[in-house]
Amino acid sequence: MTILRVLGSAAGGGFPQWNCNCRNCDGVRRGTVRATPRTQSSIALGDGQHNWLVVNASPDILAQLRSSPALQPARTPRDTGIVGVVLMDAQIDHVTGLLMLREHRQALPVYASAAVISDLSTAFPLTRMLSHYCGLDTRALALDGTAFSVPPLDDVALTAIPLESKAPPYSPSRNARRVGDNIGLRIVDRKSGRRAFYAPGLARVEPHVLDEMGAADVVLVDGTCWRNDEMLALGFSTKTAADMGHLAQSGPGGMIDVLDQLPATRKVLIHINNTNPILDEDSPQRRELEAHGIEVAYDGMEISL
Ligand code: MLT
Ligand code: MN
Ligand code: ZN
Repeated sequence: MTILRVLGSAAGGGFPQWNCNCRNCDGVRRGTVRATPRTQSSIALGDGQHNWLVVNASPDILAQLRSSPALQPARTPRDTGIVGVVLMDAQIDHVTGLLMLREHRQALPVYASAAVISDLSTAFPLTRMLSHYCGLDTRALALDGTAFSVPPLDDVALTAIPLESKAPPYSPSRNARRVGDNIGLRIVDRKSGRRAFYAPGLARVEPHVLDEMGAADVVLVDGTCWRNDEMLALGFSTKTAADMGHLAQSGPGGMIDVLDQLPATRKVLIHINNTNPILDEDSPQRRELEAHGIEVAYDGMEISL
């Protein structure tokens, strides 16, 4: 059995965000909004035998590991359950945690697309920086549908699914998309046959992505914004959710409409921005999700595959 554990369910900035006084951030600090703080975007896949694959390494990874004792099996004086890291993109909220893992005892296996490895070797040179610490053992992911496994998690078949979202603002390909700037991950437990699809950044549900979502028992997808103009309306950004590579939940063709078409038994929103009203457990938007059978991920949520 594969365990999918949500290490961090918030988008970049976390919840509450350090400099934000939106209704949610201010309300959760003061206790006037019923909501739970969340760390930045990451999940881990476990085999039930102390081995964990981290998918996206968030800047909050040290706090996430402290609240996930299973990832520290303590078999030797220096130990970790982490056997590798898979990256969905090169966004700061998904890669900065690699810096926090620099005390690793050997080169850390990192699986990412060639486009992401290129950003992490040039514009944000983590591979060079970390070569002076543990080192990163980067492996370029096939984008042609070939499955891979990360040893010793041999019962978990993973497939990178290229999809449309956005490369990070610092990337030379922010406005000139390369295939592989963003991927989703098909996760199949070879024993149970159960399948999940994880895509924390998803701008547009292309036909092949809809097929992926339709074939999954569990979908964990982009829950960044409720409205496309959410950040604009608050005066926090000049960009829409779509400009930032995220499909909003509400409105025609929004994520709720997409999820309504799927037979999946668990439909979960993840990578939730702190401005999103679904974080308020008493909000009408949260009630609307419940009416559609859609869950909101929280830190520590676990799903068995
Ligand atoms: C995004 O997905 O757009 C990011 O969360 C932005 C960021 O990390 O600042
Ligand atoms: Mn993000
Ligand atoms: Zn906020």
